[in-house]
Amino acid sequence: MISVQNVVKHFGGVAAVDGVDMKIERGSITGLIGPNGAGKTTLFNLIAGNIAPSKGSIILDGEDVTGLKPHELFSKGLLRTFQIAHEFHTLSVLDNLMLVPPKQTGESLLGAWFRRKEVVRQETENRKKAEDVISFLNMKHMAAELAGNLSGGQKKALGTWADYDG
Ligand SMILES: Nc1ncnc2c1ncn2[C@@H]1O[C@H](COP(=O)(O)OP(=O)(O)O)[C@@H](O)[C@H]1O
Ligand SMILES: [Mg+2]
Repeated sequence: MISVQNVVKHFGGVAAVDGVDMKIERGSITGLIGPNGAGKTTLFNLIAGNIAPSKGSIILDGEDVTGLKPHELFSKGLLRTFQIAHEFHTLSVLDNLMLVPPKQTGESLLGAWFRRKEVVRQETENRKKAEDVISFLNMKHMAAELAGNLSGGQKKALGTWADYDG
C-alpha cells in the first residue's frame, strides 16, 4: 500500500534519512524501531507529507505522492495521527467538533454582538459538519457525551478529525 523508494533527506550536512527502501502491506501493522537520531521521526514526516524528500519517491496505492502536502494526502486516504489526544474534556463530542472550523465570527466580542445572523448561519453549518463526522465515526450515541468520557480509541478518532481543518 505504501512503498518508500530510496528516500533521502538532508538537513544541511546531516543525512537524517539516507536511502531508505520500505514496503507496507495493506492490512498489516508495521513498526519502525531504531536508536535515537536514527531518522524515524524524519521518515514519518516524509511519508505524512510534512516535509519533502531530497531524493527518492513515496508511492501510495501505485500513485507517486512524493512531495504532496498532508491535506492532499488526506484526500487520498493517508493521515498521520499523534500519540497525545487533546480534546476539551469538559465539552461534548459535538461541541468539540463544532470548534474545529477556524476564524468563526462568534469568537470575537464584536462579532458575537453585532453579527448575530452570521454567527447563527456558521453555527448551523458547523453543527451539520460535526454531525456528519459523528455519524461517519459511528458515534451518534456519544454526541452529547463529554469528550473526557470517551475511550482511548474514540478520543483518537475524534482527535484525528479535529486535527483536519480542510
Ligand atoms: N529539522 C532538522 N534540522 C536539522 N537536523 C535534523 C532535523 N530533524 C532531525 N534532524 C537530525 O536528523 C537525525 C534524525 O533525527 P530524527 O528523525 O528525529 O531521529 P529519531 O526520530 O529516529 O530519533 C538526527 O541526527 C537529528 O539531529
Ligand atoms: Mg523521533
